Amino acid sequence: MLVLHDVHKTFLMGETQVHALRGVSLELPAGQFSVIMGQSGSGKSTLMHVAGSLDVPTSGRVEYGGLDLTTLTSRERAEFRSSDVGFVFQKYNLVGNLTAIENVALPLLLRNATTKQANAQAQEALETVGLKDRMAHRPSKLSGGEQQRVAIARALVNDPTMILADEPTGNLDTVTGERILELLRQLTTNEKMVLVVTHNPEIADIADLVIYLRDGKVESQQFQEVTR
Ligand SMILES: Nc1ncnc2c1ncn2[C@@H]1O[C@H](COP(=O)(O)OP(=O)(O)OP(=O)(O)O)[C@@H](O)[C@H]1O
Ligand SMILES: [Mg+2]
Repeated sequence: MLVLHDVHKTFLMGETQVHALRGVSLELPAGQFSVIMGQSGSGKSTLMHVAGSLDVPTSGRVEYGGLDLTTLTSRERAEFRSSDVGFVFQKYNLVGNLTAIENVALPLLLRNATTKQANAQAQEALETVGLKDRMAHRPSKLSGGEQQRVAIARALVNDPTMILADEPTGNLDTVTGERILELLRQLTTNEKMVLVVTHNPEIADIADLVIYLRDGKVESQQFQEVTR
């Protein structure tokens, strides 16, 4: 379970303080597919960064599986991210001169896995996202939806328990975007939670929890019964 308790995040821009999060409290149980919505500037990305320990709150607590992330050193946070968190971004951030399988294997190689082991895990992750037949393609030879699936496979390859996707469908047409959201929903298991920022209101139909942010606060939380 991910717990945010009265989380504030203030950025300093010269002399001006920007209050991106103003007291966010949330409980996201493992095994849930949660969606964050809200206008531009409402604090969605800031919330994702704090949840995944990419950034620390100015005040308040973030706990994951009983571990208080706000007490970790930056090195410990990096270790936490590489073992527990998978990030998917709007711009897929793939390495252009590497093939799909090389892109997915990269995080493992950076963690000193053997090439054989990294390739086996990368292949499995690409199969999970339905890209078994595109493993040797470079990003420029893949469609937008396929590139995003490679990015999802890369986020999955460490077998993280928290998957965070910040507008993963922002660069995709509606139909392709809906397929990506459905794929992210399918990745949600008892051990994995998925948290997605999206502007697609139809996502509300397949999410366990829909959170609306407004001006750095939780405006509403909607729990739903979803049949799977
Ligand atoms: N590094 C930063 N330094 C200064 N201000 C920041 C920083 N990051 C975010 N902000 C400010 O904090 C507020 C929330 O930003 P955030 O990126 O979380 O919004 P968002 O909901 O993700 O918006 P969008 O839908 O446009 O992506 C905004 O006013 C933004 O300008
Ligand atoms: Mg954002």
